[in-house]
Amino acid sequence: MEKIVILTGAGISAESGLGTFRDAGGLWEQHRIEDVASPEGFARDPALVQRFYNARRAAAAEATPNPAHIALARLQAEYPGSVTLITQNVDGLHEAAGSTGVLHMHGALSGALCPACGHRWEAPAEMAVAHPCPACGTKRARPDIVWFGEMPYHMDEILTQLEACSYFVAIGTSGQVYPAAGFVRQADAAGAHTLELNLEASAGRSAFAEARQGRASDLVPLWVAEMLAEVG
Ligand code: APR
Repeated sequence: MEKIVILTGAGISAESGLGTFRDAGGLWEQHRIEDVASPEGFARDPALVQRFYNARRAAAAEATPNPAHIALARLQAEYPGSVTLITQNVDGLHEAAGSTGVLHMHGALSGALCPACGHRWEAPAEMAVAHPCPACGTKRARPDIVWFGEMPYHMDEILTQLEACSYFVAIGTSGQVYPAAGFVRQADAAGAHTLELNLEASAGRSAFAEARQGRASDLVPLWVAEMLAEVG
């Protein structure tokens, strides 16, 4: 079985009702990144940041996986060990659809992190500003989200998988944020076939060998069916 690496972005969760960042009306039209998605913003106004992520946690709790999430979980289940799922998303919809071992390179809304001791735990639905760390008691817990200027998680594993993959698929991402936006070139350099499934041409479209435009919940199940038929 081919080694498949899949990268998802906000577009795969759009049809589950969760907003994207850069589409019209997106999150970055409603909030300034430097205020709600940077360590400096958190230091300046932690209450604003906690409100932003509490609202996103509440929205994610209401969302359900769509056919795109479900199709990817099916592909993983059919070919255990051959499908690496990397997501830039912080919602839990891949796991809710049945995916396992998802590499959340930007963290997850379900996580809380203590900036003092590095302890991680399950975030409460509503995280207060003075939320105490269960390990050291420091009252400055933050969402376990990778903010701008911080190093994404799982990069060693991701780079290892990109070097070994024969198929790289990007789904629902605008290709504007690195290092994720560069994964297609690393996969291409490794000789992989590269495919973009997106509502519109992303900033990285020219780096892909193939691209299909449309909604993820239409394109992904069709692509998974092709992969399952191909391998037989
Ligand atoms: N089906 C498929 N693609 C879609 C759909 C849909 N229903 N709706 C939107 N899209 C596409 C858009 O065309 C766009 O290219 O999804 C992409 C969403 O792009 P962004 O909003 O930039 O989201 P993303 O690429 O995930 O952002 C990457 O930027 O702000 C940071 O940390 C944040 O993880 C995020 C990163």
